[in-house]
Amino acid sequence: MKITTAMHGGNYNELAKQHGLTKEMVLDFSANINPLGVPASLKQTITANLDKLVEYPEPDYLALRARIASFHQLDLANIIPGNGATELIFGIAKVTKAQKVLLLAPTFAEYERAFFDAEIIYAELAKETNFDAAETVLEIIERETELEAVCLCNPNNPTGQLINQEEMIKIADLCEKKNIYLIIDEAFMDFIEESETISMIPYLQQFSHLCIIRAFTKFFAIPGLRLGYLLTKNDLLAEALLQMREPWSINTFADMAGQILLDDKDYIKQTYQWISTERSFLYQGLNGFPELTVYQPSVNYIFFHLEKPLDLRKELLLKGIFVRSCANYRGLTENYYRVAVKTRADNIQLLTALEVILSGN
Ligand SMILES: Cc1ncc(COP(=O)(O)O)c(C=O)c1O
Repeated sequence: MKITTAMHGGNYNELAKQHGLTKEMVLDFSANINPLGVPASLKQTITANLDKLVEYPEPDYLALRARIASFHQLDLANIIPGNGATELIFGIAKVTKAQKVLLLAPTFAEYERAFFDAEIIYAELAKETNFDAAETVLEIIERETELEAVCLCNPNNPTGQLINQEEMIKIADLCEKKNIYLIIDEAFMDFIEESETISMIPYLQQFSHLCIIRAFTKFFAIPGLRLGYLLTKNDLLAEALLQMREPWSINTFADMAGQILLDDKDYIKQTYQWISTERSFLYQGLNGFPELTVYQPSVNYIFFHLEKPLDLRKELLLKGIFVRSCANYRGLTENYYRVAVKTRADNIQLLTALEVILSGN
């Protein structure tokens, strides 16, 4: 069955309401957003520039694209900005017109909706192999005929598994040989401080079929603002994406955000400090429960399997905590969950609630 409507974890309003809870009463571990919140530098910029709303944004976003280009040491022509990473996922599906596409299962659901009229081949990831993707992906690309695009999420959402650079280069090589577009969604990659050793951005020059999608959304905690970008050295694709985009889809404040946030060194540093301590704190805490199989996290969320029959999402919600049940991901079952890494106080609250629930008290 194809996924035709958006299915996300973050919208817990309905469920909270059913249990007589308001949004403010619930601690949300389902959305993977930086808990440091909207950067102060952005708040100041928006407040100081409210009057700019009387003007249209600059139609070609030249300043925004130039800033992103210099950050990644690329040319302005290689940068296609978008209204969130999502606009670019749908844009690249339209531009490539791929009719046979390889996707991971499980993975972020929007790829399947974007390639709605394509035949989808799934690389089914198994718990026995730790949800690793590279080998299965390579086998399928090697075997399948008429594959036109491979769309990978790296690190994968919800599993957090990474395809490393060495493996991804093999995939990119094979795609290049077989004339297949390789689209890599790196929406969470910037949570890894040494990401240039994992990301494929340094290899854009080498692979003309490669497109990489990035987002400001998660790292800078601005899902409501909408800003992402696509990187490619493929001039035809870049030109086609720029041609087909609707005018002014990035609003004035998102345009400004992209120009200032990459220079907010304090926020970036604090984020790396937070993630390096809190991720291992929460991972170790979760790992301490014998009822949970916890997968090694790579970014700001942790994926785990509950080894006993229990509706953990409901039990936690009754304690005012909302987690992402992964039951509606293709390839997963009821007992898989994903939690965001949050602040120390919030993480302790989750671990305490789990202790009570799992010990049956
Ligand atoms: C892997 C992945 N890519 C892209 C997105 C969407 O990003 P944006 O809000 O920038 O459109 C999400 C949102 O959850 C995601 O998980």
